[in-house]
Amino acid sequence: MDWGMKNRLYKIIRPKTGRSLMLAVDHGYFLGPTTGLEDWKKAVDPLIPYCDTLFATRGMVRACVDPRKNVPIMLRASGGTSIVGPELLHEGITISVEDVLRLNAVGIGYSILVGAPWERDTMLDFSKWVDDCERYGLIAMAVTAVGKDMAKDARYLSLACRMAAEHGAHIVKTYYCDGFEKVVESCPVPIVMAGGKKIPELEALTMAHNAISAGAVGVDMGRNIFQADDPVAMIQAVRGLIHKKMTPKEALQFYNEHKKASGPAKKSGIAADDTKKV
Ligand code: 5RP
Repeated sequence: MDWGMKNRLYKIIRPKTGRSLMLAVDHGYFLGPTTGLEDWKKAVDPLIPYCDTLFATRGMVRACVDPRKNVPIMLRASGGTSIVGPELLHEGITISVEDVLRLNAVGIGYSILVGAPWERDTMLDFSKWVDDCERYGLIAMAVTAVGKDMAKDARYLSLACRMAAEHGAHIVKTYYCDGFEKVVESCPVPIVMAGGKKIPELEALTMAHNAISAGAVGVDMGRNIFQADDPVAMIQAVRGLIHKKMTPKEALQFYNEHKKASGPAKKSGIAADDTKKV
């Protein structure tokens, strides 16, 4: 791994803790204005100081992220299908490596649809992305997307994550499951946990904690943050869990103590300046 790639990887996985809080706000690429992200800029701006990396589409980055903000960007590089179309799982490449570089992103995320009818296309396109990323020192993250009919169990997710690593992924994003340590053990590259649909805060925090305890380097979480009653308090609670070794109960207590406050975090909380150091 050359200097540029290492430097980009350290922007995603913070060297001080070896962990990562990636904020997933790419959902509109197939869902449109999904709940919590109707006004993307308004929803995402207050969360940026608390994430290590933003996972978003190039369109929203260009239209809604102030280029003066010092936040590393991972770009959603697959798509083309929608929740209302006939073939949601037939994604293709949606951005060029030139545009990834133009946007000064640290890398891309690409969905591999293992087990779906179009798995071959997505694996081959992901492999092309690995070549492009290797050429320019960018990070290629494979997103192990799961179709409606596939079980999110350790057997399936181990297969998908291992395939991602074998095809050259630098990071793999996958779902939590029972026996998650088996998924991590058989995948030699860092894993970040996807959040999935909105669940109660304690459950989401416990899931993230369990994933990290099983060996994940962090999360790439979306709905469980931006659909929380207070997304700013929730992202700080997740941050406490990931970078400050809070237990799920401590993180929930933090959330409950801070959730009524609107606007910037209370001084007694995990301040942006403080968290940016890790
Ligand atoms: C789908 C995705 C999503 O677009 C998103 O990043 C998932 O985030 P979350 O499940 O935490 O809302 O990667 O495969």
